[in-house]
Amino acid sequence: MGGRTCPATTATIRRIRTHANRTREIIIVATTDSAEQKTRSRCIRFDRTGGPEVLVLGERALSDPAPGEVRIRVTAAGLNRADLLQRMGRYPTPPGFDESIPGLEYAGVVEATGPDCFLRSIGDPVMGIVGGEGYSERLHVPERETIRVPADMPLLEAGAIPEAYLTAWDALERKAGLRSGETVLIHAVGSGVGTAALQLARSVGARTVGTSRTPEKVERALALGLDVGLVAGDHASDDTTWSERVLAEVGPVDVILDLVGASYLAGNQAVLGRHARWMVVGVPGGRKAEIDLRTLMSRRARIEGTVLRARPPEEKALLAREFERVVVPRFERGLLQPVVGKVFPAEEAPEAHRLMEANRNWGKILLRWD
Ligand SMILES: NC(=O)c1ccc[n+]([C@@H]2O[C@H](COP(=O)([O-])OP(=O)(O)OC[C@H]3O[C@@H](n4cnc5c(N)ncnc54)[C@H](OP(=O)(O)O)[C@@H]3O)[C@@H](O)[C@H]2O)c1
Repeated sequence: MGGRTCPATTATIRRIRTHANRTREIIIVATTDSAEQKTRSRCIRFDRTGGPEVLVLGERALSDPAPGEVRIRVTAAGLNRADLLQRMGRYPTPPGFDESIPGLEYAGVVEATGPDCFLRSIGDPVMGIVGGEGYSERLHVPERETIRVPADMPLLEAGAIPEAYLTAWDALERKAGLRSGETVLIHAVGSGVGTAALQLARSVGARTVGTSRTPEKVERALALGLDVGLVAGDHASDDTTWSERVLAEVGPVDVILDLVGASYLAGNQAVLGRHARWMVVGVPGGRKAEIDLRTLMSRRARIEGTVLRARPPEEKALLAREFERVVVPRFERGLLQPVVGKVFPAEEAPEAHRLMEANRNWGKILLRWD
């Protein structure tokens, strides 16, 4: 039972098992370099599932960052639909995350680095996605999953980037291979992901057509550069008016970014062009509907689903590294800009959830830690 001799600050007695399986008491001496530091962090949490009112300001303790991890002092955390579902007990968190703390993204400053960190230093402004606990003033994340904030961008604005832009970029460019001269149809174009997709599509030279059920969001999307904007009808699954107008205005489309799901399924089949790629990213309009497989065959089209949260750490790290190289410079060149709809102090998270639940947001809703 050898041990180093270090300057002692505190001592405790602990029981251990020896190699002969006997119990012995030893004195553990806490030293300045080995003692685990506990950091307190405010967070927004819920102790029972339910409506927005279950979200409360709480506290949690964080140990020192593990090897390869950095601790972030968060400035802004974006809201996502998944947070609402988690709060209602309808979206289980991946293993290792506290299910009572929602949140999938952050922007902030590196406050501490664990052993074996080589990418980030204390004081670096970073942003990224996390599997959970994003509504936390301090967060531990693998440094490989952090993304540098575009130069000169305020941290609060950067909070609107990670989930929306990673999702839209991964779906449109990495998976669907959207190219210059192609036409992309973006449903729910006024959403966080929709407004990001619109700008990304423009940045690669694609023509954009977007739908929203809210005329004001269509107007704002047109002001953001949308080529053709259509007000889609309400939930009715047989609403195909928008698809007739897509065909009339731009003809069959090359890529669909589907953020709605079942209620637009018939219309999506009608507008599919030859070799079209139909990316299923969100399903607030329902998960199940009928599809005519002959349409896919005759158009030689494909449907692909995608989700970010469930991806393993290696994949998230690769995505972060590639995003930093490919997409961050586009913000710096002014081709992309975060779309911040509304910012709430973190303790007003219930109000923020209500706004998203009512579909009244334009772009991203952010929680701010002061
Ligand atoms: N797969 C992934 O990894 C991933 C990642 C992030 C987000 N998502 C999904 O992508 C979608 C957009 O996310 P977001 O955070 O950007 O959402 P958001 O900002 O909250 O916007 C969603 C918008 O969709 C429209 N909408 C809602 N329910 C609808 C319905 N039943 N029919 C038609 N339109 C409806 C509403 O706008 P209108 O005013 O136009 O009706 C609403 O404001 C969500 O479904 C989300 O779950 C998926």
